[in-house]
Amino acid sequence: MFNISLKKIFKYKIRRFTESKYDSSIDSNFEFVKDLREKGFYKRKSFYKDNVLAQNIINDYDNISKDFLSEKANTLFTKEGRYNYRIYITEKFNKSLLLEYANQKIFFENFEQYFGLKPHVRFISIWLDYPTKNEEEKNSQLFHRDYDDVFLVKTFLCLTNINENNGPFQFMPTSHIDPWKKNINFYLKKNKIVNMTANKGDLYMADTNGFHKGKKLLSGFRVLLNVHYASDNPMAEPPIQIVN
Ligand SMILES: [Fe+2]
Repeated sequence: MFNISLKKIFKYKIRRFTESKYDSSIDSNFEFVKDLREKGFYKRKSFYKDNVLAQNIINDYDNISKDFLSEKANTLFTKEGRYNYRIYITEKFNKSLLLEYANQKIFFENFEQYFGLKPHVRFISIWLDYPTKNEEEKNSQLFHRDYDDVFLVKTFLCLTNINENNGPFQFMPTSHIDPWKKNINFYLKKNKIVNMTANKGDLYMADTNGFHKGKKLLSGFRVLLNVHYASDNPMAEPPIQIVN
């Protein structure tokens, strides 16, 4: 365990040092970057209001029949395995719209400044999360760091409202700085967990090298569009398809 952490710390530092070039004095020219750099997360309320592509995705979601969603949800109770609280519904959306949304200038400009290198869209998907019966939190519902890439931001466009009961994303501020050295207890003593409750159409994002989790759902359901940005050389295996 100790050696694995050392390897991760080393790799993180080396890649940051050799691959990343940016001028932090211009961070504030980029909407997302200052918060990402300092706290590890950023949230924009009502992102959809001035983003037509986000609006179109929300319209697509609103046109999905409620029967389809509840049918999908019902299959969760019989689903076994690690992610039995989640179903992907990406297939119901227009693939080229999702690609166009993910490839917008606003994301590329901000993440190029944050990473200090050219960002790449690594993964696009839409999740439907439901409560599971009488189970402890598990997998992505426990605090963890992602090891997808040294250069990593995961963005989430909320397609439903998200309150305390239907699984807000939780992030430990500043834990993305110099990751892999300290465990979650170190940060729990120092910082308050951020609960990313949100309204439909809000956008939030985090550098998930920092500690994060999805709070286990107690009631209702949650739908999120996820777009992951990384370098062109991630540690994690590439997904079979970018839109999945
Ligand atoms: Fe994660």
